[in-house]
Amino acid sequence: MKKFKIVLVGGGSTWTPGILKSLTNHKETFPLDQIVLYDVDEERQSIVAQAGEILFREESPETKFIYTTDKEIAFKDKDFILCQMRTGGYPMRLKDEQIPMSLGVIGQETCGPGGFAYGMRSIRDMIELVNDVRTYSPEAWIINYTNPAAIVADALSLVFPEDKKILNICDQPVNLLRSYGRLMEVDEKIWEPVYFGLNHFGWFTHLYDKDGNDYVPLIKEKISKDGFIPVDAEQRDKSWLDTYGMVKDMLDDFPDYLPNTYLQYYLYPEYKYHKMDPINTRAVEVMKGREKRVFEECAAIVAANTTKDSKLVHNDAHGDMIVEVAESIAHNRNQIFIVILKNDGLIANVSDSAMVEVAATLGKNGPRAFGVGEVSTFYKGLIENQFAYERLTVEAYLEGSYKKALMALTLNRTVIDAKKARKVLDALIEANQGYWPALK
Ligand code: NAD
Ligand code: G6P
Ligand code: MN
Repeated sequence: MKKFKIVLVGGGSTWTPGILKSLTNHKETFPLDQIVLYDVDEERQSIVAQAGEILFREESPETKFIYTTDKEIAFKDKDFILCQMRTGGYPMRLKDEQIPMSLGVIGQETCGPGGFAYGMRSIRDMIELVNDVRTYSPEAWIINYTNPAAIVADALSLVFPEDKKILNICDQPVNLLRSYGRLMEVDEKIWEPVYFGLNHFGWFTHLYDKDGNDYVPLIKEKISKDGFIPVDAEQRDKSWLDTYGMVKDMLDDFPDYLPNTYLQYYLYPEYKYHKMDPINTRAVEVMKGREKRVFEECAAIVAANTTKDSKLVHNDAHGDMIVEVAESIAHNRNQIFIVILKNDGLIANVSDSAMVEVAATLGKNGPRAFGVGEVSTFYKGLIENQFAYERLTVEAYLEGSYKKALMALTLNRTVIDAKKARKVLDALIEANQGYWPALK
């Protein structure tokens, strides 16, 4: 079997150990000739990489393990580039969350003004990454988790319209599928999902088993009765349990489909704002939780020189998804995943150029998606409004336009009021100096 050469961009990410573990778990079906970790922060990456090197030595010694901050070493002659960078790191995520909260609107990693600010930072580095990868590996697949994936995907589709080997993905649909599986006490792999929307802004309409039975009505009924928790609830922080809890509220109000958890911020901006802590935001929870745990465990592995006694922090859904996406493409498996693609009629009554999230098979020649036809007025209205926000954000970046940035934030359902939008925008411009282009 061919052995692949892959790169993990953002080697110092909190998710890297989980992805590495997933790669070693998949070594029989997706064997690696080499894996390269690449990051711009040598020190941060080296802690994770040293632990990863020990993991590979123990579980996949035939794979060459490299870590570097050199672009040529990283990107030359590779097959797959898996990407998960965070421009500005957690200190900037904290600002994305605290600044809007201090001005009366939701502060969240990917939704609302926080997602806007993060998007304006990510676009620059993601464009640079694609250019770097294409310099050294014109044919490599770029599979991207970098958030806010909706905005990154839209920007890359506008800047690199001819590049058919960039695929943006999100693990939340898989997290939800696995959580429905736990709820119904079945393996989620029995379902063929039907899903539509934008990233962090979509709905499951059907989950068919092999006999064509749809589980969505049963799942809705069970959530409305018993509530909803993540598949890995025991490992989750409180804010995530609250987030999954809101699915019941959304179903009470809008019972048509199973909503993505992120819709809570758009459907209940006032209510959520008042529930959220303006100081101890999710970034604080992550820095004290996942980030601390990952780096402590990596240091412990290095000190012990073995992974044997360690429980590497591992969100299976996240690591497995990106590895299985790469494997399905590499071996032309045509497995179904929910991914982010150019609409082109997939949601028939939504703008063709929007980057939508739908189910698709993934093979050597790329995705082949399942269209959903026309969606009804409420969903079309929500999606078009959110798409307009996303597109104006990207245009604000590309054109350096203050006017478009203000339009974008005014359209965002978490903001609405243009005077609020202007205040938040001005504060975010101040906080993002050096990261954003000048907005005139
Ligand atoms: P993190 O800060 O721990 O890791 C990101 C790493 O990227 C850091 O080590 C940082 O030094 C590095 N980095 C920053 N700029 C870079 C650049 N230009 N090139 C290479 N490396 C760079 O963050 P995290 O919480 O582990 O998340 C990583 C990314 O994955 C974020 O964008 C996050 O939003 C995203 N994510 C997406 C999904 C999804 O569903 N799409 C799921 C989980 C995480
Ligand atoms: C989900 C989303 C991601 C998000 C991640 C982590 O999996 O799909 O886009 O980055 O959660 O969020 P957290 O707040 O735990 O860092
Ligand atoms: Mn996501």
